[in-house]
Amino acid sequence: MITNRRILLVVSGGIAAYKALELTRELKRRGAAVRAILTDAGAKFVTPLSLAALTGEKVYGDLFSLTDESEMGHIRLSREADLVLVAPATADILAKMAHGLATDLATTALLATDKPVMVAPSMNVRMWEHAATRANMETLRTRGIVVVGPVAGELACGEEGEGRLAEVADIVKAVEDFFEAAAPLRGRRAVVTSGPTFEPVDPVRFIGNRSSGKQGHAIAAALARLGARTVLVSGPVALPDPAGVEVVHTETAEQMLRAVNECLPVDVAVMAAAVSDWRVRDVAEAKIKKTKGAAPPRLELSENPDILATVAGAGNKRPRLVVGFAAETENVLANARAKRVAKGCDWIVANDVSPAEGVFGGDNNTVHLITGANDADVASWPRMGKDAVAARLADAIARHFGAIQ
Ligand code: CTP
Repeated sequence: MITNRRILLVVSGGIAAYKALELTRELKRRGAAVRAILTDAGAKFVTPLSLAALTGEKVYGDLFSLTDESEMGHIRLSREADLVLVAPATADILAKMAHGLATDLATTALLATDKPVMVAPSMNVRMWEHAATRANMETLRTRGIVVVGPVAGELACGEEGEGRLAEVADIVKAVEDFFEAAAPLRGRRAVVTSGPTFEPVDPVRFIGNRSSGKQGHAIAAALARLGARTVLVSGPVALPDPAGVEVVHTETAEQMLRAVNECLPVDVAVMAAAVSDWRVRDVAEAKIKKTKGAAPPRLELSENPDILATVAGAGNKRPRLVVGFAAETENVLANARAKRVAKGCDWIVANDVSPAEGVFGGDNNTVHLITGANDADVASWPRMGKDAVAARLADAIARHFGAIQ
């Protein structure tokens, strides 16, 4: 359930901070992507280097670091997560959270985030029982912050009582339970196409296109993150298989269609591949040689099957929701709306792939989601990363299935 989930781990300064290392290892072992913020006090107990080695990522700590701000920025840091986990959470950081203080990178990210937050408090029993901490915890709980522990036992200061950080296994379990409950597409099945197709000319040459597969792959990962059992039918791309997704590798449009058909029935199909419209009619069995003085060969093309239209017209095997893409270089909205009708799909994601936009191969995308025939059925999203487009589309799909409000 936590494979591929992005967790922003905030490590604040308490003796239990060393357990954040084991926590990181356990979360990573289950496939989560962990990025860490280490407070100044936290860095007195564990080093940024240990956390960086375990997360496999840069560790953030300084709100005023010019490089960090230009590379990542504290707002992005706080938003590019599915869950923000504060472990251990000291009385100090909990108080700052309750009162909305933003005095360092950790508290600023916690104030700026729009993502769910979980805290695992750890402190001396008197501090935990103090009226101020009680009131702060009440405030945080009312805001929907999930609290794990603390538990009773011998404390580092020698006293006995409630205040120990919950066991690492219990924090991991709480994270798993959280994602289990937050998997609105659990029980749904999805198929996604992605990337280009390569249509052979002869054994060494092909007709292809510039699609990188980044958008389609991100959509498959986002649907899987929401709990859908997802098959990604991919054309030839230079991308790793997304975790938590079953990937079928194909080359040609005909292979892609066959693979998609084998996935049906599914609840939702998102056809993001840039399928070649044509293939070479007679593929040469041997490499076509250049003969001196002879005219260049002529390639005769035949039309490829339209995978999107085939899926949309699949009768009783038709997915309940069929989503197409419209890659356009002019009259983006008008062409996309016409394409939605022509292909028989329910939704279409329109994007401008003019070279100046840098969409093919790039990391960003500016899209319009068209969900019906009326003007009100067009939502234009601001330019954002392809991962963010994918997450937003997956949320819209989950909402469509009534799984989230
Ligand atoms: N598509 C498909 N099979 C094809 C061609 C396109 O499944 N043989 C799908 C794409 O995955 C996308 C949608 O159809 O979801 C629109 O693709 P696009 O390339 O924009 O449209 P085309 O149908 O190729 O139309 P044109 O090239 O004329 O714009």
